[in-house]
Amino acid sequence: MIYKELGRTGEKISAIGIGTWKMGVNPDKEVKSLGYAIDNGVNLVDTAEMYGTEPIVGRAISGRKEVFIATKVSPHHFKHDDVVRACNDSLRRLGVERIDLYQLHWPNRSIPIKETMRAMEELKAAGKIRHIGVSNFSVDEFEEARAALKDAEIVSNQVEYSVLVREPESGLLDYCEKNGITLIAYSPLARGALHQKRYSELADLLSEIGSKYNRSIEQVALNWLLSKKPVVAIPKSSSLEHTKSNIASADFSLSAEDIGRINDFLPQ
Ligand SMILES: NC(=O)c1ccc[n+]([C@@H]2O[C@H](COP(=O)([O-])OP(=O)(O)OC[C@H]3O[C@@H](n4cnc5c(N)ncnc54)[C@H](OP(=O)(O)O)[C@@H]3O)[C@@H](O)[C@H]2O)c1
Repeated sequence: MIYKELGRTGEKISAIGIGTWKMGVNPDKEVKSLGYAIDNGVNLVDTAEMYGTEPIVGRAISGRKEVFIATKVSPHHFKHDDVVRACNDSLRRLGVERIDLYQLHWPNRSIPIKETMRAMEELKAAGKIRHIGVSNFSVDEFEEARAALKDAEIVSNQVEYSVLVREPESGLLDYCEKNGITLIAYSPLARGALHQKRYSELADLLSEIGSKYNRSIEQVALNWLLSKKPVVAIPKSSSLEHTKSNIASADFSLSAEDIGRINDFLPQ
């Protein structure tokens, strides 16, 4: 596993984390898969109050040390008292005393960002959360959120990014790199779409590249994301087989030429 600095905090998180959206189908299997990941170098686990998977994460981390828990407050809870209540509820469901990264799940224009960030800073001062992050924020929204904070920094922005979804390359990726912000890539395997017929050309390219390194197309797709300095990825995997494959995707390096070939292959 490789580890990257979270923002400019000096703290290291695994470049491959685990996402938990849509877990809950087979909790015993998922807890086993999460536990395996944590015991094998993954320290970043991502959840959200909206996913209903905080109790599963709580079960998986129970008795394990060195886990970095990222969860999210839902936009309809962005009023001051609701943020505080949502945080306390997440702490209880996770069974922890503090959340490592507390993220605003999506921007919410109907509630002043100053009010939300005031609550986030209070939670940080009270030791209930360690770091503040956002998700699905554009560069402008990020700047506005940043300006609403008195002392704290926003250390990360979680957005969709994969070989198929390249929006962050239109400004956000550069912004994160320049400003020392971690870009947490969600749906990094394009939710399984790489196997759809309409993306077969891209899958063929990934497969051809993967054959040089003896790696699967998923491992090439994840490793390509990790080649971007500010990026860590949080694939969701319920199966042990997928989890093992995703952990191993951080254990090799694509050549500059192969990274360039994938960079240049813009999906239609
Ligand atoms: N902030 C946001 O708004 C937001 C939005 C969406 C997602 N997220 C976060 O990002 C995480 C990941 O995104 P996602 O769940 O949408 O999609 P994803 O990680 O791109 O894809 C998940 C799918 O890929 C399969 N998979 C995983 N590893 C694989 C492998 N090595 N080979 C083949 N298939 C593999 C999984 O199967 P199995 O589960 O059967 O193993 C699952 O069906 C979420 O769980 C969530 O934590 C955040």
